Amino acid sequence: MTKETQLQVEAIKNGSVIDHIPANVGIKVLKLFKMHKTNQRVTVGLNLPSSALGAKDLIKIENTFISEDQANQLALYAPKATVNQIENYEVVKKLTLSLPEQINAIFKCPNTNCITHGEPVDSSFSVLTKKDDVQLKCKYCEKVFSREIVTEHN
Ligand code: CTP
Ligand code: ZN
Repeated sequence: MTKETQLQVEAIKNGSVIDHIPANVGIKVLKLFKMHKTNQRVTVGLNLPSSALGAKDLIKIENTFISEDQANQLALYAPKATVNQIENYEVVKKLTLSLPEQINAIFKCPNTNCITHGEPVDSSFSVLTKKDDVQLKCKYCEKVFSREIVTEHN
């Protein structure tokens, strides 16, 4: 680290750092994506000062590499997040997120009558984007929900 300022959360040797998560969304991301369900060390920083976001959350998972596809699943919650891959203390890859075409097995369908609630099937939404407006269409009940409705229910 050649930075003048000290890191707010200790550097890691190998693994993934999810940076620039909006403040208050870090815990949600951690739980929703089951990032805490690992034997690896996970460090979390909440409400860290950030010049770009004012305040941000940050998650570091050691010895675990998040693929591009997995990273993009985060885009609905944290579109400005960056996923850094760390090897031997160096940032070797920096992924910026883009919305995927499908989001599977993460969000519950907001429609309480949807078959996905009673059956052991994974949820599946196709992502529809019109300019900045993002909507999700459930594969099972075919209802369309705004991004806000889906994130509020999850
Ligand atoms: N990081 C870490 N352990 C390392 C190297 C980096 O935890 N061994 C973290 C940094 O603290 C930072 C993120 O990984 O949160 C990205 O590192 P870097 O690209 O060096 O930081 P910035 O230049 O600030 O990144 P950005 O431009 O994305 O803001
Ligand atoms: Zn549904």
